[in-house]
Amino acid sequence: MSEPIVLGIESTCDETAAAVVQGRRLASNVVASSMNEHARYGGVIPEIASRAHAEAFVPVVGKALADANLTLDEVDAIAVSAGPGLAGCLAVGVSGAKALAWASGKPLYGINHVIGHIAVTQLQFGDFPGDTLALIVSGGHTSLLHVDDIARKVDVVGTTLDDAAGECFDKIARLLGFPYPGGPHIDRHAHQGNPHALKVPQALTRGNAGREHPYDFSFSGVKTAVARWVEARRDAGDEIPVDDVCASLADSVATVLANKAIHGCEEYGSDTLIVGGGFSANSQLRDTLVEVGARHGIEVRLPRMQLCTDNGAMVAMLGVNLVQAGVRPSAPDFPIDSAMPLTRICM
Ligand code: KG4
Ligand code: ZN
Repeated sequence: MSEPIVLGIESTCDETAAAVVQGRRLASNVVASSMNEHARYGGVIPEIASRAHAEAFVPVVGKALADANLTLDEVDAIAVSAGPGLAGCLAVGVSGAKALAWASGKPLYGINHVIGHIAVTQLQFGDFPGDTLALIVSGGHTSLLHVDDIARKVDVVGTTLDDAAGECFDKIARLLGFPYPGGPHIDRHAHQGNPHALKVPQALTRGNAGREHPYDFSFSGVKTAVARWVEARRDAGDEIPVDDVCASLADSVATVLANKAIHGCEEYGSDTLIVGGGFSANSQLRDTLVEVGARHGIEVRLPRMQLCTDNGAMVAMLGVNLVQAGVRPSAPDFPIDSAMPLTRICM
């Protein structure tokens, strides 16, 4: 099968999404979000998200097929995110996908959502160069991966020792009074601020810690430093220069991520860096990666905005990779795995 057609289904968090990919072409892409229902709680409420998936599943999958002008009979395989994510949310998507696969007799792949975030870049840039590095920056993950073969072998080169970059942004955003998810608000305010207004630590970049953890990240110190600075001002009754806080935080995080990822490419002899995950929508990170990459002769492959946050295209694209590589479909009783390790591409 040279250009398999795969239906991808996503329900790890607050997006119910489905898409159809044929070969490297995106035939449809439908996303329904329950984000607005969580905003007033300051974070995703799993119970609310699960109910929303149960409601949106059939309409979203139906629209993805209709937009692609296909019936379920005409797809070659179905792929669904089996983890990592919220258990109740995963259960809705995986159960729905199993029902579709059973009824249609199509092979089903329970894929790793995080690996999907990097697989999706193939829709824009084509196949991965052999032996490449990937920076994954999603809400829950900040890791540098070595991609040997996207369908079969991915290794972790470095990872965050505590908070993910997205989590760190969301927590500071909450402190500043922005609704969930706060990342995009920090991004917007950072444009008008002075990135050197606050001294924000750049963890694991210098001295022994930097030598021992060349590719690991740590953002809890960053979060604490910024939070203390804001709280001290607030206690003193001073006004908070929100734009400057956002700019300083964004600059520190983007600089560390870009420097470590590009340095990793040089050490591993990779002239391409693949980037993926919700946080790859961050404009300070995008600009810094492109700038540092250009300085070191590394091509940085960034997903377009629509493909940064959770979607079905990433799931379908990884499904196509698995079909093309001849990987066996998942067993009918495959489980969900809310803590699916990054080295596991498929159940
Ligand atoms: O990958 P994703 O959609 O969900 C997970 O799989 O975890 O990532 C969501 C994360 C949230 O932390 C959100 O605040 C962050 O991505 N995010 C951003 C931006 N857009 C989304 N963070 C900073 N700047 C943005 N523009
Ligand atoms: Zn994600």
